[in-house]
Amino acid sequence: MDTEAPTPDCHAIVIFGATGDLARRMLWPSLYALDCEGLLPEVFRLIGAASSKFTDEQFIERVKTAINTSANAKLYDDLAFARFAGRIRYVSVDAKSPGSLAAIGGVLPEGTGRGVIYYLSTAPQLFGPICRALAASGLVGRACRVVVEKPIGSDSISAQETNDAIASAFDESQVFRIDHYLGKEAVQNLMALRFANAIFEPLWNSTAIAQVQITIAEAVGIEGRWAYYDTAGALRDMVQSHLLQLLCLVAMEPPAGFTPQAVRNEKVKVLWSLRPIEGPDVGQHTVTGQYTAGFAEGRAVPGYKEEAGANTASETETFVALRVGIDNWRWAGVPFYLRTGKRLQERRSEILIQFKSPPYNIFAGIGASLAPNQLLIKLQPEEMITLTLMNKQQGHSAMQLGEVGLNLSLGEAEGRPRRRIAYERMLLDVLRGNSALFVRRDEIEAAWRWIDGILQGWKSTGQKPRPYSAGSWGPSAAIGLPERLGHSWHE
Ligand code: BG6
Repeated sequence: MDTEAPTPDCHAIVIFGATGDLARRMLWPSLYALDCEGLLPEVFRLIGAASSKFTDEQFIERVKTAINTSANAKLYDDLAFARFAGRIRYVSVDAKSPGSLAAIGGVLPEGTGRGVIYYLSTAPQLFGPICRALAASGLVGRACRVVVEKPIGSDSISAQETNDAIASAFDESQVFRIDHYLGKEAVQNLMALRFANAIFEPLWNSTAIAQVQITIAEAVGIEGRWAYYDTAGALRDMVQSHLLQLLCLVAMEPPAGFTPQAVRNEKVKVLWSLRPIEGPDVGQHTVTGQYTAGFAEGRAVPGYKEEAGANTASETETFVALRVGIDNWRWAGVPFYLRTGKRLQERRSEILIQFKSPPYNIFAGIGASLAPNQLLIKLQPEEMITLTLMNKQQGHSAMQLGEVGLNLSLGEAEGRPRRRIAYERMLLDVLRGNSALFVRRDEIEAAWRWIDGILQGWKSTGQKPRPYSAGSWGPSAAIGLPERLGHSWHE
């Protein structure tokens, strides 16, 4: 069976926010790539919905430009695009009005029932109103799916409200909450590494592992998104979603199978086991920062408060580092260090698993020290898995030891199929109705409950972000976080 074949009951995708940044950079180029590979159903309409007024032709021109300026530009071909364009319709809508959304019914393919995917690539405040308006206009049937982007809420209460609004129109089994980190090849490979190999599992616990580090470092600033970012900050923008999802994949128990329920059951148990960081504990377990002017991406860059549209009194964190405990049998006593920030020295996302040192160094007598073994999973910019071992250094007659890395490169290899961008994989899963790598309601809400504790702790203790220069690795206090337990950040 072709596991990539879309389910036959899918007949259209409606993209709300069809002219927005995400749709332009990711969604249209991804759908185009899937069409080029023959992965869209034969009868499948692509419907752009937004408030601006365009004719189909004008909108198709915009889609063409989007593809030609995207990561998939090299796939562009006039003939392939002509076929793709034939699938596209555009409707100008007031997304909150059931009367206005009824126009969508008129552009759905005929005689295909209601197998429609609604992709809400809009401001999150519109998720509830759109879902309610869709239901009220009779456009939601059992075969429909809805895809929503983060952020879902800004704390646990608002997340519940948004989820309730979505649930008023769609059953949980129809809801696909995207965390685009779960669409990255290397992140998906983490599941394969852990659960398709027997050698790691006996070592994957507090007996053998000393510490885990998860870093998502960005060299970019807030990229013109000050208004959104200032209401979010690094904890809400990155930790609540991407970092906690990565932590779940590292820490979860083996699921009963690779099914949506089984995978997500195990992930949510990790979130339930996170030790709360609340009240005065935030001072011991968290470090926050905000970038000041400096040098990043090869040029002088302004500080956060000097970015376009900035409020100079902002106390929003653009960096956060956390020491996290997981209170369960597997991980008791193992610190998980999480770190993310804007305008850091380089773009780098990785997971480091550091094993314990050998119980006794028999080489101490000849002056050799032993570095602990490490498993480094690099997610971006390059994708690579490296297991670092101690080895006898070649060419020396005396016993001299050094570290050597066993590398498994996941990069592009000749003859391999083209690598997909994360959104292609996620869209394909939506088409196939496979929600294993989408976030379930209880996961989102459990993550927010834990984040709420930290936010309240910062508020009650008055913890403010410390300044750090753009192009550095964050405030120097972040170094102290692992150091207190004898660890250091992997740099
Ligand atoms: C988004 C955040 O979810 O992820 C952005 O809102 C961040 O602030 C982005 O820049 C990072 O994604 P990636 O795939 O570029 O690492």
